[in-house]
Amino acid sequence: MNETTLVLIKPGGVSRNLIGEITRRVEARGLKVSGLKLMNASRATVEEHYAEHRERPFFKDVCDYLTSGPIVAMAVNGTNAVKAIRAMMGATNPIEALPGTVRGDLALTIDDNLTHSSSDPEAAARELGLWFPEGTIS
Ligand code: CMP
Repeated sequence: MNETTLVLIKPGGVSRNLIGEITRRVEARGLKVSGLKLMNASRATVEEHYAEHRERPFFKDVCDYLTSGPIVAMAVNGTNAVKAIRAMMGATNPIEALPGTVRGDLALTIDDNLTHSSSDPEAAARELGLWFPEGTIS
């Protein structure tokens, strides 16, 4: 099924110059970048993005982190893009992520796990609306 999903490259990924490496992997898989922006995210946008985690102990830290430096917001389109991207990024905690995944190859800690990607098609639709209110190319 053709889908569009959201990938955020977090401040650690941008500061470590991994924008190209992560985007290369997405494109090499056969998926299309259908929206792309480098930005300083607002607190309000990040809090809305992580609204489901509002009561979790890490909510403040993850919001602080996402607003600590530039991030990349990327829309990715293709067959089963939501699942394909989640699998490519690897487990949320990088120490559990398999080699060959972005986190398994490039990250070590859950607080700096390099990327966010939408968990399912409903989350993807909500998150794309938040980060790309102008729409995406597809
Ligand atoms: P992400 O996929 O962006 O969704 C929520 C983020 O919170 C997660 O990646 C991690 O970077 C961060 N986080 C920190 N601690 C935890 C935790 N215990 N469980 C889930 N996410 C956590």
